Amino acid sequence: MRNKIKISASILSANPMRFEEEIKRIEAAGIDLIHIDVMDGHFVPNITMGPFIVKGIKSITKVPLDIHLMIEHPERYIDAFAEAAEGSGIITFHIETVKNPKEIIAQIKNKGMNVGISLNPDTPVEMVENFVDQVDMVLVMSVNPGFSGQKFIPKALPKIARLRDIAPDKMDVQIDGGVTPDNISEIVKEGANIIVAASAIFKAKDPCNAIKTLRYIAEQAIEKDADNLVNI
Ligand code: DX5
Ligand code: ZN
Repeated sequence: MRNKIKISASILSANPMRFEEEIKRIEAAGIDLIHIDVMDGHFVPNITMGPFIVKGIKSITKVPLDIHLMIEHPERYIDAFAEAAEGSGIITFHIETVKNPKEIIAQIKNKGMNVGISLNPDTPVEMVENFVDQVDMVLVMSVNPGFSGQKFIPKALPKIARLRDIAPDKMDVQIDGGVTPDNISEIVKEGANIIVAASAIFKAKDPCNAIKTLRYIAEQAIEKDADNLVNI
């Protein structure tokens, strides 16, 4: 059984003056997760949202939060983010930012949240292989983190496949960066099941329609794949 396809909308491309309206709109379209990109200006060349914004978003939606920490010293801020999210949803940290991933995993779990671990396009999969049985999700970056609207880096695809091979079934594989209706099929065929999209949703003429289209194409791709397997 494959893990369910979930679409996670990154609000990095939403209008920050209208977060409530934008979030209510994607909620009505059946979005599975709200992806919040946290950047510190050190690990990545951009600064975005802190616990204060997470708390505000949590107060207006029931959609689970998917908090992507692109920050150095995540251990200093995890408790504040977990409290802002009321201990529900998932916090993902980057393997490149920590010395002892086990401690970070425990810290997030202690706060009652699910745990994700992420790796940049240039970071080899081997760096996270030892942790796949301890986390709920691995996030494969398919752009260099920092900004939405970048082009998908194809070398992420074999990393997804490798992770899907070695990880327990229940672990989710998330892809983040440059996802469009044109490349989502190959991404899910390699085994990713949580798909992050910022521009493909919020820069579309109709974000609700964009979510439905992404989901439809992803589900079709998997069904076709399953048919092919049966016919072999
Ligand atoms: C990039 C962020 C992504 C970004 C994705 O550093 O982690 O979540 O918002 O944006 P798109 O979907 O436009 O590539
Ligand atoms: Zn992200």
